[in-house]
This record gives sequence, structure tokens and C-alpha cells, in this order.
Amino acid sequence: MTHPMPVFPADFRWGVSTSAYQIEGAAAADGRGPSIWDTFAHSPGRIVDGSTGDEACDHYHRYAEDVALLAGLGVSAYRFSIAWPRVQPTGAGPANQAGLDFYDRLVDELLGHGVDPVATLFHWDLPQALEDAGGWLNRDTATRFAEYADLVAARLGDRVKLWITLNEPFIHMSLGHGMGVHAPGRMLLFDAFPVAHHQLLGHGLAVSALRARGSSPVAIANNYSPVRLAGGTDADRAAGAAYDALHNRLFTDPLLGLGYPEEPGFDPALVRDGDLDVIAAPIDVLGVNYYNPTGIRAAEEGSPLPFEIVPLDGYPRTAFDWPVVPDGLRDLLLQLRDRYGAALPPIQVTESGCAYDDVPDADGRVADPERIAYLAGHLRAVHEAIAAGVEVTGYFVWSLLDNWEWAEGFTKRFGLVHVDYATQRRTPKSSYAWFRDQVIRP
Ligand code: BGC
Ligand code: BGC
Repeated sequence: MTHPMPVFPADFRWGVSTSAYQIEGAAAADGRGPSIWDTFAHSPGRIVDGSTGDEACDHYHRYAEDVALLAGLGVSAYRFSIAWPRVQPTGAGPANQAGLDFYDRLVDELLGHGVDPVATLFHWDLPQALEDAGGWLNRDTATRFAEYADLVAARLGDRVKLWITLNEPFIHMSLGHGMGVHAPGRMLLFDAFPVAHHQLLGHGLAVSALRARGSSPVAIANNYSPVRLAGGTDADRAAGAAYDALHNRLFTDPLLGLGYPEEPGFDPALVRDGDLDVIAAPIDVLGVNYYNPTGIRAAEEGSPLPFEIVPLDGYPRTAFDWPVVPDGLRDLLLQLRDRYGAALPPIQVTESGCAYDDVPDADGRVADPERIAYLAGHLRAVHEAIAAGVEVTGYFVWSLLDNWEWAEGFTKRFGLVHVDYATQRRTPKSSYAWFRDQVIRP
């Protein structure tokens, strides 16, 4: 099937994204300390296939091969994350230069191939020693994070083209600290709110630390999921507003200077004088990660939550059982523009992608027409938003490689490139060639 595609602006940033624990492996190399994900993955019953990220895609040793794949794809940017426990094995103290050396080599390899390095400072792999001191429930972790940001900027600040402080603080709060399905595995429900405030404070302090080193532009990558109401009553609408405040506004409102939304019922005692100004430090780009909308209706009487999440029927589904709704991305981009107006910085879509059960055929080729359709639909949605006046300046596919998908272990494949985990053999899928043809237009 062919997908007629619109033409994007000539300076549009085309990229792919990954994260450290999902691809690097080499868990004990060069002085790396343990993170909460090492602890969680090694705890029985936490990961569906019992796997860990100990080896993952062995990217730590194969990064040159992976950068060659990026170069072959023609992308102008690569979003990766830096493992805090490689830089500070216990989350404090001077930099472990051997750990930073890896990112130094990676950044130079990228630049040598004409690919802009886009570095995320925190993609969920908190040093275990900080978790033992309370993790993101402890306000001090925000200060630690800014010190770590300073150490990284001192080493890489001259070459990184875009800094992303945090990846998806909402998912880290909700799945990691609210529901216990991600590390560190806490089940605090709404008592997880300090994790929101302390991550945001850490973000704001890190923005200052980066700018003090002359390291910019700076962004944050949030996960967004537009609400689709599954009912038309006032109670359904109130439930939708409550979910929207939690998922889409809790982090973005304070980042853009509006303070916390009222709906989620945040304990104001957490927020000290001056915190909201730190959090609202201007950013240059808003990173938007989008996978799917969320269906919401009013909760049953007696439910601990002010909404109920319901499946969205009538859409194709990925191997994760997530509905494929490209229009949700357009709606979300328009909603951000309408909600924040002039306070909204330019947007880059820092993650968009899908999992399918991709299997090599007898000739070793991997055809993934569903992923091509997915990406085509979402790129058209971005183009529609641009045509409607939203400033969107880039799009990153999640992900370059099939990788270790958190609680799902190796069972979900998101890559443009297939990875055989037994041999670490990389095989570009048909979506890799398709995406290259979007990036390099004749
Ligand atoms: C959400 C995705 C999110 C993922 C995190 C899902 O439930 O729909 O948007 O990225 O959880 O693993
Ligand atoms: C995360 C990625 C993850 C992807 C798919 C996002 O929530 O940032 O690390 O692999 O969604 O679940």
C-alpha cells in the first residue's frame, strides 16, 4: 500500500529516539552503579518474560554500528538518554569520567555522521542509592539532579544540540509510584504527587544549571493523551476534565507559568515559596510524546479514582493493544496551542511509534506494513497541525531498535530495525526504508 505524504518544511528535524536502560546493556561496565530499573528487573515477577536490561541491545559496545544505521536512515537528529548511574554511580559526588567517556564517544560518532545529538538527562533510571534515600519522594533528589546535569553539561555541553531534562514525568509518577508497574514499584495512588513536584523542581533547577554552562536549547519531554469521552453525562465530562488535568496539565501548566491545576487535589504544603518560579524557567522547545488517546467515563460509586478508563473501540490496535488514532495527535497539538497560546514554545514530537510482532521471513527480511501505516498517519496528523498554525519543528520515531520494553521485557518490538536478541543481529525492517524515503525527499 502506498501512502501519499505531504511535504514538510526543509528545516524540519527528523529523528529517532531511544533510552539508556532499554538499549545499552553493559550494566556493570566502567563503574556504572545500579539504578532502580536494575533492582526492579531483577525482582521476581516484575517483568513479564523475566528478562532484564543487563545486556539489552548491547548498544554500549555496538554504538558505532547503530550510528551507521542512523546515518543510513538519513535522520538529522538522534535522541538518546544518559544513564545517571554511569555518571554518578551513587547519585552524588564527582563525575565518573569512564561513564561519561561512553557518551563522549557516542556524541562524536554522531557529529561525524552529521547527526545532531539530542540528550535526555533522565529516562527513569534513578541511581538506586538515591531511591534508598526516598527517591523522588525526597525533595533533595531535585538538587541532586541539577548537580548531575551540571556534570554532564561540563563534559558534553559544547556538542549536544538539544537538552531534554526529564522523559515523561507523568508516566514515572503514575506507573512507577502510583500503580507499581514500573520501577521503583511503589503503589501510592494519589499520594505519589510529591514525585510530580520534585521532578518538576529538578527540571527547573537543571534548566538553570544547563544555562549557567551555556548549554542550550533546553526542553522537557511530556507524555500526552487527549481524552475521548465514552459518555455524555455531566459526570462523564467532569471525569474527563479530572483525567485531563492529571495526565495532560499537571506537569505542563506549572512549566508554562500557570501553576498547578486544581482538579487533582495536590497538597499545597509541598510547594515552597519560589518553587513555581523555578519550575516555570523558560524552555526553548516542548517535547511531546504521543501514543494514543484515553477513553474516560464517570467512575462507579465508591471508586478510589475520580474517573474510569475504558477501551476505545473501533480502531486498529498495536501489539500492545493500544488503539491507533493518528487524529489524536493532531487534536493534541491543536489543544496545546489553544490552551497555552503565546506561552507555548515550539513543539517537537519527541516520541511516536508502535509495537508489532515483527518476525523475519525465510529470507531474513522483516516486513512491517502496519508500522508504515502508523507512521504515515501520524506524520500526516503533524502536517495538519502545522497547516493549522501550530509550530511543530520536529518528529522523532520511537524507536530506532527493537529494545527492552520495561515491564514487557523483550516481548514488544517498537524498532525500525529488528534485533535478534540471541545474536544481537540488526535487520532494518521495511519501515526503515519507508521512513528514509520521507526524510530524504527526491
Ligand atoms: C500509555 C502510553 C505510555 C505508556 C508508558 C500507556 O498506557 O497509553 O502513552 O507511553 O503507557 O509505557
Ligand atoms: C517511553 C519509552 C517507551 C515507550 C513505549 C514511552 O512511554 O518514553 O521508554 O518504550 O513509551 O511504551
